[in-house]
Amino acid sequence: MQTEARALMRELREDHRNMATILDMLEGVVEQASAGKDPDFELFAEIMRYVTVYPDAVHHPKEDVVYEQLRIKRPDLAKGLEDVPIDHDEIAALGSALRDDVEAINAGAAVRREKLIADTMSYVDRLRSHMAWEERDLFQRIDSMLFAESQDIDVSEFEHIKDPVFELEIEAGFRRLLSSLKAAT
Ligand SMILES: [Fe+2]
Ligand SMILES: [Fe+2]
Repeated sequence: MQTEARALMRELREDHRNMATILDMLEGVVEQASAGKDPDFELFAEIMRYVTVYPDAVHHPKEDVVYEQLRIKRPDLAKGLEDVPIDHDEIAALGSALRDDVEAINAGAAVRREKLIADTMSYVDRLRSHMAWEERDLFQRIDSMLFAESQDIDVSEFEHIKDPVFELEIEAGFRRLLSSLKAAT
């Protein structure tokens, strides 16, 4: 099934707003840890699990499809696009390594706190700057393409996968994340 590209861009931008909220929350967890307090490791683990099951598994692959269409239809606007899949892969690798570390801590393993803090901060910075690049540059290029000619984009492979936190709000595996979100609003 083809999706109208403007609707898809609205979804991708909404994903970014949600991811920004999650990253703020993750930063809060890290600030607690670096202040010597005991952070909420269950929340930490849910956040890392969320980024691996939605942003890495759905949001970024959808963007890859959109950027590929841009590359084909508007090669004049495609400068630097070859770096995006690498960026997505590296973010996914950092995220799953962090998720494994946090899950190991929750299972009783000793992981150095300073290293965990440093890795988490670099993950937050990396994903924030990636999203900032997309919003300030790449998404604008897509808008230019769509302004010139409306398009449909086939993301049917991902269309049925809902965001387990922001769309479904019922997923048992994200209870802490959901209650922290509700507390923050
Ligand atoms: Fe992206
Ligand atoms: Fe994105």
